[in-house]
Amino acid sequence: MDAVRFDPIRLQPGHLSRPRSHERWRCEYTESTSYPERGSCVLVEETVMASTALICDTEPWKDLKEHINVIEKTHLRDLMNDVDRCQSMMVEFDGIILDYSRQRAHLDTMEKLFKLAEAADLRKKIDSMYNGEHINSTENRSVLHIALRAPRDKVICSDGKNVVPDVWDVLDKIKDFSDRVRSGSWVGATGKALKDVVAIGIGGSFLGPLFVHTALQTDPEAADCANGRQLRFLANVDPVDVARNLKGLNPETTLVVVVSKTFTTAETMLNARTMREWISTTLGAQAVAKHMVAVSTNLTLVEKFGIDPANAFAFWDWVGGRYSVCSAVGVLPLSLQYGFPIVEKFLKGASNIDNHFYSTSFERNLPVLLGLLSVWNVTFLGYPARAILPYAQALEKFAPHIQQVSMESNGKGVSIDGVPLPYEAGEIDFGEPGTNGQHSFYQLIHQGRVIPCDFIGSIKSQQPIYLKGEVVSNHDELMSNFFAQPDALAYGKSPEQLLHENVPDHLIPHKTFSGNRPSLSLLLPSLDAYNVGQLLAIYEHRIAVEGFIWGINSFDQWGVELGKVLATQVRKQLHLSRTEGGPVQGFNFSTTTLLTKYLEVEPGNPSDSNELPRL
Ligand code: F6P
Repeated sequence: MDAVRFDPIRLQPGHLSRPRSHERWRCEYTESTSYPERGSCVLVEETVMASTALICDTEPWKDLKEHINVIEKTHLRDLMNDVDRCQSMMVEFDGIILDYSRQRAHLDTMEKLFKLAEAADLRKKIDSMYNGEHINSTENRSVLHIALRAPRDKVICSDGKNVVPDVWDVLDKIKDFSDRVRSGSWVGATGKALKDVVAIGIGGSFLGPLFVHTALQTDPEAADCANGRQLRFLANVDPVDVARNLKGLNPETTLVVVVSKTFTTAETMLNARTMREWISTTLGAQAVAKHMVAVSTNLTLVEKFGIDPANAFAFWDWVGGRYSVCSAVGVLPLSLQYGFPIVEKFLKGASNIDNHFYSTSFERNLPVLLGLLSVWNVTFLGYPARAILPYAQALEKFAPHIQQVSMESNGKGVSIDGVPLPYEAGEIDFGEPGTNGQHSFYQLIHQGRVIPCDFIGSIKSQQPIYLKGEVVSNHDELMSNFFAQPDALAYGKSPEQLLHENVPDHLIPHKTFSGNRPSLSLLLPSLDAYNVGQLLAIYEHRIAVEGFIWGINSFDQWGVELGKVLATQVRKQLHLSRTEGGPVQGFNFSTTTLLTKYLEVEPGNPSDSNELPRL
């Protein structure tokens, strides 16, 4: 084994070169001897017996590469005329309709993609996931979020142990606790019922629960159950997020849920200490036991923090942060807000898709079809982004959640065996609910870049409005756009059509729409807790399918580490300069200059007494 030491703040381009296929590199953080106040990264090169087999070396891959030429000669305008093709590209499962006829694909393309799935051992990889094998090989862990929503009698094993009873022990504990809080039998330190919940967490310990909460807020059944209660999320370490979340809250009636898989995430822990201070300043230190609970895999650190282990809700290392919304991470705050029965419906929806994904042939399997089409768009057709466009305000936070699930999972540059990928993997996800997005970035997707779009709609509105005298209901108005936009993208508008409409010559280039822009439509029956669970699981599994085809590890996230290490160096410098007035040292010119300016304008030490937001 050979080790190369480098200063992370003075990285030279040469240090970042990709490993050769027989090498693996590991970044280790160690204390620095030259700068005792700072550490350094050691890039350790290990020679390993990595498999160099890549999916791009298989025949189905090469076949698809050649097939691009065929597809490039087609236009969606013509493909959409083939009714048999369109019929074959419409799949229905449990009331959910997927229409992928507006993808730049023939039936032949699909056959070739199924062959690619075979070459990538997709079936075997799905089975390995469901069998609890350690498919997250760099962290040596199983990937079993499916167990979080499995029925009580299901057997799902990790390391030879059925994990489903443990899952249900925690679910039962959540049900009991949330029932007590909601009924007022668990009260705060001054005897008042706890009506408001602040869930502290970031990334996977925040985005999924926020998405589900936002989706349920206007579901009539869920909304009824949440009457008089508030659920807020504190994620950002920016003190402004604390100020905004505390506004209007009374510590006497507030329960804080600290959510962190590791219980070490800097942002979450500082926010947790801030909230602990907020409670104990007003109610006394003993109140913390009544007003703070935790969700974590690290129960030792929970106890060290001062939260009673009896009020800690466990999950397990076989649940990835971004796949944890169905664990206590999401189930506890959501049950406190909506009651356990609503959350159980959500879990049942996700479980329904888990079964569908596991047992349905690839030709009719929603996550598999979606995953294969994403690979086709990203890697073969060269469209790196995907727009997630729910025509449902309730799904406002769906795209931000999927951004993490997708980009943290598949934003990788090497295969699962550590071999640099000679093709692009991962995709750039972004989105906004329709119709808001139409008035924001749709110009670009109609006439600028080609961005494959996911249109998501629901047949029934959560909150229908009908106005006498209006042509259509408000939901129909919304859905008119859901149905129109995919055709506008696919068909476009030709110069001939514009001429026919007497458009002046000089405007024709500006008013021409090239069309041939791919999209798919997902139509859900409604947006109740069950459907929301289904939608979540469809995307989780779709993203896994993409990773399985690309041959990467979709379940680790080493890419988030380096920035955290560098922030540690800066934090130490800020502390030193603020407490001892020491000069900024050991950083490059740019960082030194900015840090010096920052310290000049905001001088002084952290105050001896606590300062909390004044809003
Ligand atoms: O952003 C990196 C990450 O590790 C995510 O994967 C995770 O969801 C998030 O931080 C929060 O981590 P934790 O739940 O351990 O606080």
